[in-house]
Amino acid sequence: MKSLVGKRICLTGGTSGLGLVVANHIIRQGGELFLFLRDEAKLKDINVNDQVHPIICDLSNTKDIENAINKIKSITNELDVLINNAGLWVFGEKKLTEEGIELTWQVNVVAPFLLIEGLKELLINGNDAIIINTASALHQGYINWDDPCFEKTSFSGFLAYRQSKLAILLLTLHYATELENSIKVVSNHPGVVSTNLAQSANWFIKWFFSLFGKSPNKGAQTIIHLLENSDKAISSTYYVNKKVAKTSTPESRSSNSANRLVKLLKSNFENSYTEINVNIDIKIS
Ligand SMILES: NC(=O)c1ccc[n+]([C@@H]2O[C@H](COP(=O)([O-])OP(=O)(O)OC[C@H]3O[C@@H](n4cnc5c(N)ncnc54)[C@H](OP(=O)(O)O)[C@@H]3O)[C@@H](O)[C@H]2O)c1
Repeated sequence: MKSLVGKRICLTGGTSGLGLVVANHIIRQGGELFLFLRDEAKLKDINVNDQVHPIICDLSNTKDIENAINKIKSITNELDVLINNAGLWVFGEKKLTEEGIELTWQVNVVAPFLLIEGLKELLINGNDAIIINTASALHQGYINWDDPCFEKTSFSGFLAYRQSKLAILLLTLHYATELENSIKVVSNHPGVVSTNLAQSANWFIKWFFSLFGKSPNKGAQTIIHLLENSDKAISSTYYVNKKVAKTSTPESRSSNSANRLVKLLKSNFENSYTEINVNIDIKIS
């Protein structure tokens, strides 16, 4: 285990599953942690010390994301690591955010996009900065470009989750290229892990995860490896079991799709989020 003293690390999804293991590891190893959480009561599971800055933020709410970015900027102008780990899988009926966005798309795709955009200046100021995105082996298929939020087609939680994990791989590719001279951007698949991800699923899926899933401690090891060995990490790469993996789909490596996705997210942001008076410094190009 390596010391993380002096590293300034921003982590989403650090209150459960893999992220909770990563959060407590960062604290144990002396890192400074900007810990996103939506429920303050969850701090009881975390060994909080004066190096931990709780950032209260529901990632389904864009105003919360803006406030979180501003709070971080009020504490520091440098970050070394951003870990976009929070994620969800909607089982059952489609769920919309208060702003009318399909929940999986908002939390798994729009939130990491806004955090990368909102925090990239701080990461550029940091030391050998890295963005670590939690993806999944479940990312086959294509983005439903005409209807990513299932407004015209009937909702499938499976397809929404799979599409969102393809999107996080495409965001990794896009930002690895855009930021190639300043920040590394990598993704990882933790394996099947017994966490709260399937908590609202039917008994069979829950049974599958609990029987075949590894422990959150084991599942978190690739993120921890990337965090501790960021100097050796290769930007734009997909990591599984702590190693570079060549198993992501050809579509997840398509630069055209990566650029198209970022254009779509930027234009959605420009068209709708500005109406709700959210002001995150997104460069529309
Ligand atoms: N488990 C697996 O087999 C598996 C496989 C591949 C990839 N993954 C990915 O691994 C990542 C971590 O998931 P996990 O398995 O550790 O699941 P988990 O135990 O359910 O943890 C998910 C984390 O995301 C946070 N989160 C969810 N919705 C949020 C919101 N609206 N605002 C703020 N935070 C929110 C949760 O916060 P709360 O504590 O407040 O709920 C929690 O900290 C996800 O990106 C997931 O897609 C998991």
